[in-house]
Amino acid sequence: MYQNSRPIGVIDSGVGGLTVVRQIQRLLPGEDIIYFGDSANCPYGNRSADEIFELTVRMLRMMERRDVKCVAVACNTISTLVDRLRPECPFTLVDIIDCSAAYIVQEKLPRVGLLATEFTASSGVYERVIHDRLPDCAVVSRGSPSLAALIDRGDFNQSAINEEITAQVDAILDREPVDDLLLACTHFPIVAENFRACFPQLRLIDPAEQQAAAVKNLLVYRALTNPQTRGTLTVFTSGEPELYEAVAARLGLYGPEFCKKLELS
Ligand code: DGL
Repeated sequence: MYQNSRPIGVIDSGVGGLTVVRQIQRLLPGEDIIYFGDSANCPYGNRSADEIFELTVRMLRMMERRDVKCVAVACNTISTLVDRLRPECPFTLVDIIDCSAAYIVQEKLPRVGLLATEFTASSGVYERVIHDRLPDCAVVSRGSPSLAALIDRGDFNQSAINEEITAQVDAILDREPVDDLLLACTHFPIVAENFRACFPQLRLIDPAEQQAAAVKNLLVYRALTNPQTRGTLTVFTSGEPELYEAVAARLGLYGPEFCKKLELS
């Protein structure tokens, strides 16, 4: 296949990575995108590192079979393991944590609140990566045990989601009066409106834009951008395709051309 026409892969534990697809479509409209969301095994954020690693390797093998030119790891939880995953792939992995941290460093934020899955929060990866480059930044992180799963169920039940957001963000604000809140789980920007309604004073950071910019830089640097004017979006999931269609519509994505159930082994 002509090198530039190869698709970009995007992986996530569920529907959350569609927030990254939204930004890739904006910055790289000519690219064909293949998405896999592992909703049958979501949430990843309550699993062990070995389980997350094994489940992710299956998604990467699927992407390899489809001859992608790179993969955006649109999942913070998976991105905590990116150094372990890189040797498994013949293509470049663009992880979301590095992109989020680079943004906080570039903005020289004095303090930032960070809401993630329990796995991501307890890994301490964000603190390490941010403090390497911006040692004085106060990073206050919290892990939600339930928010990603509530969203991945397609259950946009306002009260359960709003109650969890309020409990977690209040706990962050009790520790530090932050002005900025990093949505460090790709599922969370899907309910950005709920965050805004509960905490209108906070500036929300959705790192999807930075990750899409990193994918663009990579393709431009390697002269691998697709010259066509509009690319396709093909979505696979181990869960229910209808949920992906609903979230794609909610996020205003063009496509998906098709959305299919696929079991990985
Ligand atoms: N979307 C994923 C993330 O960014 C995690 C959701 C899950 O727990 O599976 O961390």
